[in-house]
Amino acid sequence: MNKTGCVLMLALAGPVLWSGCADRQKLPEPPPLMGEVPDTRTPVHLPQEADRAHREVMMQHLETVQVLVGALADEDFTLAKGVMEAHVGFFARRHVITRQKMEAIPPAYQTLALAHVQAGKELAAIIPTRDMKQILPRLNGMLKTCMACHLEYKVGEPASR
Ligand code: HEC
Repeated sequence: MNKTGCVLMLALAGPVLWSGCADRQKLPEPPPLMGEVPDTRTPVHLPQEADRAHREVMMQHLETVQVLVGALADEDFTLAKGVMEAHVGFFARRHVITRQKMEAIPPAYQTLALAHVQAGKELAAIIPTRDMKQILPRLNGMLKTCMACHLEYKVGEPASR
């Protein structure tokens, strides 16, 4: 290696070595952008009308969560329990209607739906303790059942999206 090459190599390698030795605090990796995550969800086929009904139920789910958290923040445990019980009942009724129109719902989807209803019941049952240390883990448990299904399924034609 000639002199210029040697100087160049040192110039390039120096900072790399230096940064490697320096005791710098490592920044945490930023979370991946949503678009970069491959969509591995299984599509469930729903006729248009049932898709709309299903999405309406989902929006009700979200509304329930908001009213529930608001009631807990206000320490209105009667409202919180009432909202949860109404939600479970409503969900069960609407789910039956939607289910009848679903052409081929995977049994695993129904299992996830049942797990959600079960988590909702458990949450409703713990609310009268008025103990947030018991209520919050159940609320989290219920929200996990929303996530579990959303990660697994979407509405759509097989291999369309
Ligand atoms: C058993 C499965 C399942 C459970 C449980 C579930 N969801 Fe969903 N949800 C779905 C599917 C499937 C979609 C449609 C996703 C798509 O194709 O874009 C959806 C869509 C939604 C949407 C979007 C609605 C729209 O208009 O597009 C919201 C909001 C939502 N869910 C909220 C919730 C909340 C909040 C919970 C829990 C309290 C919940 N869901 C529980 C399956 C589920």
